[in-house]
Amino acid sequence: MDYEGSDYEERFWARGGREYEDRAERIALRKLLPPEGRRLVDLGAAFGRLADLYRGYQQVILLDYSRSLLRQAQARLGHDPRFLFVAANIYHLPLADGAVDTAVMVRVMHHLADVPAALAQIRRALAPGGVFVAEYASKRHLKAIARYALRRQAWSPFDPEPYEFVPLNFDFHPAWMAQRLQEAGFRVERELAVSHFRHPLLKRLVPAGALAAADGAVQGVGALWKLTPSVFVRCRAAGQPPAALPADLFRCPRCAGALASEPDRLRCVGCGVAWSTAGGLYDFKEPLAPAGGNLSTAGA
Ligand SMILES: C[S@@+](CC[C@H](N)C(=O)[O-])C[C@H]1O[C@@H](n2cnc3c(N)ncnc32)[C@H](O)[C@@H]1O
Repeated sequence: MDYEGSDYEERFWARGGREYEDRAERIALRKLLPPEGRRLVDLGAAFGRLADLYRGYQQVILLDYSRSLLRQAQARLGHDPRFLFVAANIYHLPLADGAVDTAVMVRVMHHLADVPAALAQIRRALAPGGVFVAEYASKRHLKAIARYALRRQAWSPFDPEPYEFVPLNFDFHPAWMAQRLQEAGFRVERELAVSHFRHPLLKRLVPAGALAAADGAVQGVGALWKLTPSVFVRCRAAGQPPAALPADLFRCPRCAGALASEPDRLRCVGCGVAWSTAGGLYDFKEPLAPAGGNLSTAGA
């Protein structure tokens, strides 16, 4: 899903009337995220909405497919050397195996047509014993069940298969998602049902802080039924955490080769392709064109 050039922050959050959702998600993330760690990657971080929750981490990678949203994150957070800004595709993560001890992915799963492929990449980039906190949009929420029961909705919220309500926007059944996480090698440790009170009237009548606090109070027990439109899960990768994470954070997203540092770029020692690092943005979306050459033959 390409958010390049979108006014996502302004339209969806600043003017979108979603203070309640923002607060409720922060409450959930605080409960699930280890308070400190060595290296965290926020996958699909956009403009860095949740970055202030990563204070306890020595290094934080904000990764997104949209360069323009990352530039916004950089404008706000670029003064802090703990933050790295990485343009890349989750399906082709430029992270070395076991490079991070924590991965977060909020409001991104619903854009993924191939969840198993994305989870395999995330699992690969996570160190043994690492934590993956994921949010997904659930199809089996109370409103969908009510609409289905009243025959005002054709699709069944109980059908385990993902439901694509508009192109590249999917809602998932909790059981289906649990199965995919398990197949990818994750053990689900804790779940939270989030956004119980996502209703226009409630949001108009009750201050966002009070509504979010009420949501926070029932997120744990609500996970027994998971009837909310949003579900958070904390998963763990098997194994003992290593004494140190790999010194090389990145690898070539094309061929998985090691990358050598050059001015304003990283060059793959395997396929020869170069990736821009100009302006503090690690850009793994498209390789730099080789001088006088053709991209398709680079490194051949
Ligand atoms: C709805 S926004 C969520 C942003 C942020 N996680 C938050 O909760 O505020 C989805 C983000 O996922 C990014 N995204 C979608 N598909 C992606 C992919 N395959 N690889 C990297 N980023 C992706 C989009 O560019 C967008 O910034």
